[in-house]
Amino acid sequence: MNAMKLRTLGSRGPQVSAIGLGCMGMSDAYGPADDAESIATIHAALDAGITLVDTGDFYGMGANELLIREALRGGRRDRVLLSVKFGALRDPAGQWLGFDARPAAVKNFIAYTLKRLGTDHIDVYRPARVDPAVPIEDTVGAVADLVQKGYVRHLGLSEAGAETIRRAHAVHPVADLQIEYSLISRGIERDILPTCRRLGVAVTAYGVLSRGLLSGYWSAQRGEKGDWRGHMPRFQGESLQRNLALVEALRRVAGARGATVATLAIAWVLARGDDVIPVIGARRRPQLDEALAALELGLTADDLAAIERAVPPGAAAGDRYNAQQMAVLDSEK
Ligand SMILES: NC(=O)c1ccc[n+]([C@@H]2O[C@H](COP(=O)([O-])OP(=O)(O)OC[C@H]3O[C@@H](n4cnc5c(N)ncnc54)[C@H](OP(=O)(O)O)[C@@H]3O)[C@@H](O)[C@H]2O)c1
Repeated sequence: MNAMKLRTLGSRGPQVSAIGLGCMGMSDAYGPADDAESIATIHAALDAGITLVDTGDFYGMGANELLIREALRGGRRDRVLLSVKFGALRDPAGQWLGFDARPAAVKNFIAYTLKRLGTDHIDVYRPARVDPAVPIEDTVGAVADLVQKGYVRHLGLSEAGAETIRRAHAVHPVADLQIEYSLISRGIERDILPTCRRLGVAVTAYGVLSRGLLSGYWSAQRGEKGDWRGHMPRFQGESLQRNLALVEALRRVAGARGATVATLAIAWVLARGDDVIPVIGARRRPQLDEALAALELGLTADDLAAIERAVPPGAAAGDRYNAQQMAVLDSEK
C-alpha cells in the first residue's frame, strides 16, 4: 500500500491522486522524448499511487494515446482515470487548423480515441478549447449523451471562462476545469477559480512549472527542434531573462527548505486548496520524483509568504501563449 494523498474531482466527482500525470510532452510539443523512459515514468507514477493520467487526441496526432495504451497493458488500465481532450484540428505537419466541437465531431473523436487507448470508456472527456462556432450547450450535450451510453464517466472543460463554465454546468455537472495555473499564471484567481468553487468544480492545473520555465533547469541556451517553447513569449529575449531572475529568487527560498525549485513550485499550487490538482508534465522518472516530493513538503505560512515575495502576482514577463493562441482562449476573454 502506498500513502498517496487523494483529492476529489469536483463535489460530485471521483477521488483522484492529489497530483496527476500529464503526458503531452512524451509525444509532442517539447522536443524529442524517449518512449521507453516515458513508459517507465507512467509505470513509476502508477506505482507511487498516481491515478489521474491526462492526454489529448491531438498530442502527436494519436501517438500519445497509443503510448499510454502501451503503458497500461497488463491490467493497469483499471488503476487510472484517463482524462482526454478532443477537438483540436491539425494538419500532417502538426500545424493548428482550428477547432471542432460540434456534437457529431465529438462522437467521431471519441470513437477513434477508444480504439487507440484500447478501452471501452474515458473517465473524463473534455473539449480542449471552447469552439466559438458551437454553443457550449451543444458540445456538453454530446458528452452528456456519451455519459448516458457509458462511453464517458465525467465531463471536464479546458481553458473555459466563468460564463462558459456556468452554462456548461447547467447542462451537465462539470467535474473539473483544466487550466494553466502556476506562480506566474494566476489569472484564474480573479473570476474563474471563485466560479469553480461556487459550483463545486475542481481545477486540474497544468503548466504548474510553466512548461519547464519554473523547473529550475531552464537556461537561455535551450531550444531543440520541435520544441514549441522557443515560440512562447515567456521563453523569448528579455522576457526570458526577467523570468529566469524570478526562478533564481525562488531557488533561494527552495534552498532554505532543502527542496528543488520544481518541488517548491508544485507544492505552492498544491497549497492553493484541496480542489486544485496539479497535473505535472513529468516525462522522466527524476522529474516525477521531484513532483512527488511536493506532496511531502508541507509549506508553512512563512514559506508561502517568502515564495510570494520571490514571485509576486503578475511578476512574469510576457503572455502565457502567443497572440494568436491567446485570442482563442475563452478563459482570457
Ligand atoms: N488543457 C490545456 O490546454 C493543456 C495545455 C498544455 C498542457 N496540458 C496538459 O497538462 C500537462 C502538464 O503541462 P505541461 O507539460 O505543459 O506543464 P509543466 O508540468 O509545467 O511542464 C513540464 C515540463 O517541464 C520540464 N520539467 C523540468 N523539471 C520537471 C519536473 N521536476 N517535473 C516535471 N517537469 C519538469 C519538462 O521539460 P524538459 O523535459 O524539456 O525539461 C517537462 O516536459 C500536459 O502534459 C498536458 O497533459 C493541458
